[in-house]
Amino acid sequence: RLKQGEEIPDWFTWPEVAAELRHRHPPRHRQGITLFFTGLSGSGKSTIAEALNARLLEQGQRRTTLLDGDVVRRNLSEGLGFSREDRDRNILRIAWVASQISRHGGIAICAQIAPYADTRQRARAMVEAEGGFVEIHVSTPLATCEQRDRKGLYALARAGKIKGFTGISDPYEPPKDPELTIDTRDVSPDAAVDQIIHYLEQAGYLR
Ligand code: PPS
Repeated sequence: RLKQGEEIPDWFTWPEVAAELRHRHPPRHRQGITLFFTGLSGSGKSTIAEALNARLLEQGQRRTTLLDGDVVRRNLSEGLGFSREDRDRNILRIAWVASQISRHGGIAICAQIAPYADTRQRARAMVEAEGGFVEIHVSTPLATCEQRDRKGLYALARAGKIKGFTGISDPYEPPKDPELTIDTRDVSPDAAVDQIIHYLEQAGYLR
């Protein structure tokens, strides 16, 4: 019995069993992967996710699907709000779609706040049953996100016009052990993509 991502050892020569194992446990560069971004609103998740999607397409890698937080909420999660239950529902729906993409050998790029550690853990478990899971924490601090305030939402949250806004009046639990951490104060979107591609190559997901 092999673990997810583990390859068949060279010394293994029993052909029927090796063929079956190879079918069930393809090498990492042929497995599906989910690249799961998490971070505060305005931290740069969507910008990096879009640049990464474009780079992977350009490189002709396995088919990619971008599941951006805002787009998901307009479609798959239409009608959900920002209570803990609704956020969890939203994340688990995204994880399910990502698990199906991974199952069929694709690359799912998901960019959402995903503020709760144990919901992210559930998402990881769902996806890892089908392929690789790479958690990317976009760790740009609250002060910077708030200063940028690209959508004007932080100002509304400070004024009490949006209740339960992540980082202001709702929690964000930072990941303890993400595969990657990127702070957009220090790196451009292009450099962030380089870092992610480098990780995927080192981990054997891309060749
Ligand atoms: S979650 O928590 O993962 O389900 O959130 P997500 O689906 O990523 O949606 C986050 C975007 O919704 C907007 N928005 C809010 N964010 C946080 N808290 C509250 N209360 C809220 N209300 C609306 C906000 O524009 C987030 O966009 P991003 O892309 O993260 O800036």
